[in-house]
Amino acid sequence: MDILIKGTVIPVTGPGEILRDGVVAVRDGKIVYVGRPEGLNGFTPERVIGGAETAVLPGLVNAHTHAAMTLFRSYADDLPLMDWLKEEIWPLENRLEAADVYRGTILACVEMLLGGTTTFADMYFFMNEVAAAVQESGMRASLCRGLIGVAPNAEEALAESREFVAAWHGKAGGRISCMLGPHAPYTCPPEYLKKVAAAAAELGVGIHIHVAETRRETADILKQYGCSPVGLLNVCGLLDAPVLAAHCVHVSPADIEILAKKGTAVAHNPESNMKLGSGIAPITDLLDAGVTIGLGTDGAASNNNLDMLEEMRSAALLQKAAREDPTALPAYKALQMATIGGARALGMGEMIGTIETGKRADLILIDLRKPHFYPPHDVVAHVVYAARASDVRTVMVDGQVVVDGGQVLTVNVETVLDNIRESALRLVGRPRERSLL
Ligand code: NI
Repeated sequence: MDILIKGTVIPVTGPGEILRDGVVAVRDGKIVYVGRPEGLNGFTPERVIGGAETAVLPGLVNAHTHAAMTLFRSYADDLPLMDWLKEEIWPLENRLEAADVYRGTILACVEMLLGGTTTFADMYFFMNEVAAAVQESGMRASLCRGLIGVAPNAEEALAESREFVAAWHGKAGGRISCMLGPHAPYTCPPEYLKKVAAAAAELGVGIHIHVAETRRETADILKQYGCSPVGLLNVCGLLDAPVLAAHCVHVSPADIEILAKKGTAVAHNPESNMKLGSGIAPITDLLDAGVTIGLGTDGAASNNNLDMLEEMRSAALLQKAAREDPTALPAYKALQMATIGGARALGMGEMIGTIETGKRADLILIDLRKPHFYPPHDVVAHVVYAARASDVRTVMVDGQVVVDGGQVLTVNVETVLDNIRESALRLVGRPRERSLL
């Protein structure tokens, strides 16, 4: 279907490049024209979307999450990371069944689509169910099975990862790609990391891993191996693969140099880092060194939503506060991280992340006719500092309209909500005092 999109186009190809009263033409899932309406030749759209007071942007990329953890949203909060994991989250995860993961993931997909996120990078388990939810929702995703090298099933999980790559890499019309997902240096010993690196090279896929999330992790790895988490990954040959490194909060200048040299991309998760008290990643230093940075929400249990517009704002504000410098991480840089930065971090920079002729049509439309967008001084500042998920009206992934007028078209949202309540109730057994289950 030929679709024409009208509005103020923010292609994210450069800070000055904003097109007032522009158009984007979409044919066969691809962007075939971006520019002034008078430059359109012989394009007779079957549908026209947008118009005046609409901002048109590339779909947002959530570069690090655990989608099914929506099941644990607001279940356990305000706890230290290891207590939170060991006492609250892991016991519930042990009770998860495949159907729960499907339900949690499809809930996440609905939430992300409604907030303008079109692509996400996920690490979890029961990944066939995750892939099925992605396929059904119409989203784009890079998926990996989380691997715990110290677990008794470590070898089995790696074998399962290979099967998952064989089954899903490049599937759902090219919307699903796969990576290998060693959880973290503190849960995967060097020998295991080496095995994962070899498997990634053999399969031709990237690696998604948590790195240097807390001060304690960095200290423990130093004590155990005599180097930093980044240094350890480098020694193990892991960074020779395309790597998506989530967090990188506690990294040294030497680590940053390694990340830049190896072309390792970082997924920055400001709200999760704040909520778990992990610290503040040195994002401006990483950007200055030339490291590719994407933006992620992490799981909903440590955020507690999957709103990438909010995450952009948090990322910008957090760097300013940390550096006592209002010029640190300006709005446009935050927007780049949430779009093209994330796309590159997921190995999709040639395919999505900007609005350019030849790229796949992953686009979002934001309704600017709202009190909090008036007066319309600066549309980029509005999107980064004033917008919220509910301002997103239309979402297109791979040329398919999946959210129309603020409604998800691919999934029955009422059923999703009813199912998630049922799963959550079974998982927690007896609801807590403030629970509405
Ligand atoms: Ni995570």
